[in-house]
Amino acid sequence: MVRRTIVALPGDGIGAIVLEQALRVLNAAGFDAEYVYGDIGWGFWRKEGNPLPDRTLDLIKKHKIALFGAITSKPNEEAKAELDPSLQGKGFSYSSPIVGLRQHFDLDICVRPCKSYKGNPLNFVRRGRGNTIEEPLVNVVIFRQNTECLYSGVEWTNPPENVYNALLSHPKFRANFGKVPVDELSVSVRIFTKKATMRILEAAFDYAKKYGYESVTVCEKPNVVRETSGLMWKLAKEIQKNRFQDIKLLNTNIDAQMMWLTKNPEDYGVIVAGNMFGDIASDGFAGLIGGLGFACSAQFSADGIAVFEPTHGSAPKYAGYEVPIVNPIAMIESACMMLDYIGEKKLCNVIRKAISDVIEEGRVRTYDMMKMQGKPEVIQNGAASTVQMTDAIIEKLKK
Ligand code: NAI
Ligand code: MG
Repeated sequence: MVRRTIVALPGDGIGAIVLEQALRVLNAAGFDAEYVYGDIGWGFWRKEGNPLPDRTLDLIKKHKIALFGAITSKPNEEAKAELDPSLQGKGFSYSSPIVGLRQHFDLDICVRPCKSYKGNPLNFVRRGRGNTIEEPLVNVVIFRQNTECLYSGVEWTNPPENVYNALLSHPKFRANFGKVPVDELSVSVRIFTKKATMRILEAAFDYAKKYGYESVTVCEKPNVVRETSGLMWKLAKEIQKNRFQDIKLLNTNIDAQMMWLTKNPEDYGVIVAGNMFGDIASDGFAGLIGGLGFACSAQFSADGIAVFEPTHGSAPKYAGYEVPIVNPIAMIESACMMLDYIGEKKLCNVIRKAISDVIEEGRVRTYDMMKMQGKPEVIQNGAASTVQMTDAIIEKLKK
């Protein structure tokens, strides 16, 4: 086995807690790696006026692979007020280091698997025929374009004259908004490029082929958002026809998908969408498999940078508990995605099997799995702590 160097980015709050647990599991599974720690998050904003220091970017650039916990992010005004007094009033401006990472490395492909574990009490159930209860197992992987769409930040309130004139040149704008005073206008632009759209579609098809999924579903709204959603649908048809005829190509609208996901989630395999609809669809499906304690993700760039992280944030209110209670599985699953990515398939499967065994056995459950309110008392009330859940997974690895 080649010894890997992995950049560990603990971040803030529970991010640091769950990352540590994931590293324990990786070590226990025999993954031979060196971890170099990168600075990111609120503490560095306050101390240095930069939540994503250049030295961290250099580390990631050098080693290419990062395991990331989570960070705390706040609006700019609040952020400025929390800066170290020596830095206040010196022109520092806050922006989210997650967005920063994404933009700096052009992490345009985001992958969010949503797979239910047997025996997870948080699994989605529905009523079947004759009043039976069905528990469809979900096995969906969402490919979300990560850098464009409505989240590209190209937006204005009271747009400048040249922008306003460009808008006026569109007959629909003129007809429907032409009489609105310009200072009462807010405009956010939904941008899709052919290159990035091709990349996310190809990644989705490649994945479907590699992992044996029958279908790729484009989840957009091409009947209404004709240019951008339309582009994705058109390119998807071309790619499928030229390279992936053995994989079914399906088309759902995001609104309908939100309905279908609780009616027949088992019918979906790989789903691909633009940034915003991918964000929505992945949260929707994550809800079916246990929510934030289970939702893992990976982000990739064209030039080989990969960042693996749970979908959840830093959950600051839990960060100070003497005994941490949050579920480490989303972070450990993200580490499994990393193992899979670097070709450590066997280790990845061994860890996933250990998680699956712990969940199916049902003896060790974190508070979220017991549907408790997150409070320190959950431990006295029978919930496993973050560390106990990790211990249980490690225990299974030894078997
Ligand atoms: P959050 O994901 O941190 O927490 C929301 C709630 O989800 C928690 O109160 C808790 O009930 C539950 N939860 C989260 N992780 C859990 C886990 N591992 N096990 C069990 N329950 C869990 O989102 P919130 O509260 O909106 O944001 C807190 C901070 O995190 C904010 O500063 C926000 O900007 C940041 N954030 C960072 C993200 C990242 O680093 N990728 C993503 C989302 C939010
Ligand atoms: Mg989200």
